[in-house]
Amino acid sequence: MCGIVGYVGSTDGSDAVDVVLDGLSQLEYRGYDSAGLAVPTPSMRVSKAAGELSALEDVVSRPALAGEPVGIGHTRWSTHGKPSDANAHPHGDAAGRVAVVHNGIIENYQRLRDDLVDAGVAFQSETDTEVVPHLIGRYLDRGADPEAAFRLAIDQLEGSYAIAAVFDGSETVYAARQDSPLVVGLGETGTYLASDVPAFIEYTDRVCYLENGDFARLSADGAVITDGAGEPVDRPTETIAWDSEDAEKSGYDHYMLKEIHEQPTALRQCLRGRIDELEGTVDLAELAAIDHGGPVQFVACGTSYHAAMFGAERLRSGGVRAQAFLASEYGSDRVPVDEGTLVVGVTQSGETADTLRALREADRAGATTLAVTNTVGSSAARECDHALYIRAGPEIGVAATKTFASQQLALALLAFELGDGPTRGELEALRDIPGQIQTVLETTTARAVAEAFVDADAYFFVGRGYHYPVALEGALKMKEITYRHAEGFASGELKHGPLALVTETTPVFAIVTGDGETARKTIGNVKEVEARDAPVVAITDGESDVTRYADHVLEIPAVDDISASVLANVQLQLVAYWVANLLGRSIDKPRNLAKSVTVE
Ligand code: F6R
Repeated sequence: MCGIVGYVGSTDGSDAVDVVLDGLSQLEYRGYDSAGLAVPTPSMRVSKAAGELSALEDVVSRPALAGEPVGIGHTRWSTHGKPSDANAHPHGDAAGRVAVVHNGIIENYQRLRDDLVDAGVAFQSETDTEVVPHLIGRYLDRGADPEAAFRLAIDQLEGSYAIAAVFDGSETVYAARQDSPLVVGLGETGTYLASDVPAFIEYTDRVCYLENGDFARLSADGAVITDGAGEPVDRPTETIAWDSEDAEKSGYDHYMLKEIHEQPTALRQCLRGRIDELEGTVDLAELAAIDHGGPVQFVACGTSYHAAMFGAERLRSGGVRAQAFLASEYGSDRVPVDEGTLVVGVTQSGETADTLRALREADRAGATTLAVTNTVGSSAARECDHALYIRAGPEIGVAATKTFASQQLALALLAFELGDGPTRGELEALRDIPGQIQTVLETTTARAVAEAFVDADAYFFVGRGYHYPVALEGALKMKEITYRHAEGFASGELKHGPLALVTETTPVFAIVTGDGETARKTIGNVKEVEARDAPVVAITDGESDVTRYADHVLEIPAVDDISASVLANVQLQLVAYWVANLLGRSIDKPRNLAKSVTVE
């Protein structure tokens, strides 16, 4: 996930650099590891810098660029290549005729890059994006005009993209969209382009959303939108009803709620280019060099530990010896680890001190290390032998939501890579999860459940197998944002002690899916709870008769247990969110907590 901005204003009084920098500052939630901009008039000038936007502001020469009417900009969240000046966008061709910014993943970039290198093109960065300006340059060399060269280059791309380009000396911005968002803003004195409305809401509330396959040509007095064949298409102009503060959260009250709703997109991004349903294969290019047949140990903290527990369970069912450890409890004196062990650090930030310490200790013991992280260029990614990126995009809310789901999916892919390969059915099941989450988001009754139990004394969560880590995660979400007591248990453990806590004021959330042995056993535990008058909330696909014993039901589609655990978790995220909302808690920044915990 990255943010892109474009602007074309009238020549009197417009200042593209101001508009672009303002826009990028509103899009930093989409990425903040490097930034850049290009002003093509009167001749092409490009500035870029690794680090947050302030680093770009320091290197942009405002006096030299003042008063120019056209510009594009980019704030980056790395997917290919570490955060650096060279990898920051915009990227250009060797002759400086074009500058390009891109959000998304170009799946066929390696083949395109190899072709261009064979033809003598020298690349300046490690990014997938850089193939685009070089392709455009190739068509300019062959005599195409800028618009034709842009279209021909885009036609070569496979994957997801929102792309904007400017040409040396020209007052036009060209754009194309496929599976990554792009919106045009129609102002009184200029035309705007961005990944998201907040980038320009300060200037105009009249917008036009591009659709997949659309091309746009922006000039100071508007935008012409066409399809792939160059035929004009009609995209309605809408008026946005938010003010600029709402807009940063795209109209959601909290980043957490926004990020819960971003899960379908985040998971599609995680899967993109990594599964081939026709061939029935998984391709994790980052892990091509891992040839591992030995035991796997996961180390992680908090939510990431719950994902690690899920990952270990998944690997075990694929025939791999795997165990999850709390990173703070991991030590080579306590756990047998040697050259034959693969130690996987699961860490959203890649900076958690406990996890880094555990990985370093594993490295000293001779183990192969792998970081499963959201953050390209993080300490975990740099220090481990290998890195697998979950590609969730930046998460601003302190409570992890979309990154947990993305970790689950990335670890499901890892299980195929290290254990028994996938069946076609298993790959289809993974592919369908984003759409199923969308269904859950559209049909959930989590708010009503939260209203029913906002005054509860405590909240308990139970599940078995893949649902046990989700029960722990449901409880963690509840406690960290509501400040209420919550506890997760393996459902079979209730009768070994926790049942003493259960009363009519302690709702028990039970995850029960399918109608097999696991479901039957959990239903037995639910009956024990019901017999003690505790309210039961079943998170279920309705395949079993658990609903007979439940006071409330949170429905999910009927799918296998792996997918069901992802979907059940979304319902629990929403219940925690709504309880916290009703209690008026500081949802995005809960007390005493930080997003990245860099002390042991
Ligand atoms: C809870 C949460 C934390 C983190 C934990 C590890 O919502 O976000 O429990 O999961 O601090 O952080 P990372 O994944 O960055 O290592």
